[in-house]
Amino acid sequence: MTSFLFDRLIGPGLRLLDPEAAHGLTLRALAAGLAPRATDPDDPVLAMQLWGRDFANPVGLSAGFDKDAQVMAPMLALGFGFVEVGSITPRPQAGNPKPRIFRLPEDSAVINRLGFNSGGLEAAVERLKSYRAAPATGRATGRATGRATGLVGINLGKNRDSVDAAGDYATGAAALAPLADYLVVNVSSPNTPGLRALQGRGELEDLLGRVMAVLPAPAPPLLLKIAPDLTEEDKQDIAAVCLAAGVAGIVATNTTIARPDGLRGAAKTEGGGLSGKPLFAASTAVLSDLYRLTEGRLPLIGVGGIASGADAYRKIRAGASLVQLYTALIYQGPALVARIKRELARLLRDDGFDSLSAAVGADHRYSG
Ligand code: FNR
Repeated sequence: MTSFLFDRLIGPGLRLLDPEAAHGLTLRALAAGLAPRATDPDDPVLAMQLWGRDFANPVGLSAGFDKDAQVMAPMLALGFGFVEVGSITPRPQAGNPKPRIFRLPEDSAVINRLGFNSGGLEAAVERLKSYRAAPATGRATGRATGRATGLVGINLGKNRDSVDAAGDYATGAAALAPLADYLVVNVSSPNTPGLRALQGRGELEDLLGRVMAVLPAPAPPLLLKIAPDLTEEDKQDIAAVCLAAGVAGIVATNTTIARPDGLRGAAKTEGGGLSGKPLFAASTAVLSDLYRLTEGRLPLIGVGGIASGADAYRKIRAGASLVQLYTALIYQGPALVARIKRELARLLRDDGFDSLSAAVGADHRYSG
């Protein structure tokens, strides 16, 4: 699809609809094969090797877009280097009452309080199994364009009424590990009561220990997704626990409960997690702190407010080995993915980097 079509027709059309209805329509169109396909092979400067996996490019779709693992192949065909499905809860649940997604177009932002609406583990396992078993109709779409096969990470959540949070994550991890290129323990969504308290030192040690214990061999890399709303002590604890527990990486960050000064959108008073442009500074600061606190020893996925190649590059220089986005896709449409990759490749070369990995954390080295 050209950006002209999205800018003039599809984007404005979708924005006339309630955000959740627009999202449902988008998922149906993608599943029906009405999606554009990236045809250019990825620039080799964008390649990243991590956890024994080859990422053709570092730009991923973050969790929440494809909660129920329904549109992995079309999103990879769009040009993403990887997609993260979920959050998936063990049992199906409806989430919070609607409306629960709000656009703030003046701020290029969204507030959501979905509360882990999920089709549940069983349905996701079935879909992921058929996806893995059908390369001809699924992942090979990337191969036809000369890009390496895209990767699928799986993000785990917990049921709202579950009393044993660690048990929920362990259940999800055991069932989904064989189907995942990486797994994410998401303890950072603001819309499930008590969830973010799992980021505390003791809770986190217990939680990660229990999840690690159920992973089958060979286990996929296990990552932790954190909130942007953390104290210095929280961040120190998270870095220490992740290093000690053998966590493979950290996804920084989820949406924020803060409402930065200067928001203009009428929906700014809605409760929930804020994403998009106003999240960029806070999430990049947390990413940078985690890189420093883990001394660059843990691969980080930078997410929060990325809307251009320059934004992606700033996350990489702050310490991200991979990046993800969601909200900017709502405002800019599918052409955004190719644009970010093109800009990022140029920025890397302009600064004299001949590989992406050489640029990871560059700000920490040059700022002394
Ligand atoms: C999200 N996000 C999210 N994250 C997660 O770990 N599990 C989830 O189920 C969801 N669901 C979700 C729904 C909606 C509507 C939005 C906008 C976001 C958070 C998302 O993955 C990401 O961390 C933030 O949105 C920040 O990135 P962007 O959107 O600023 O690029």
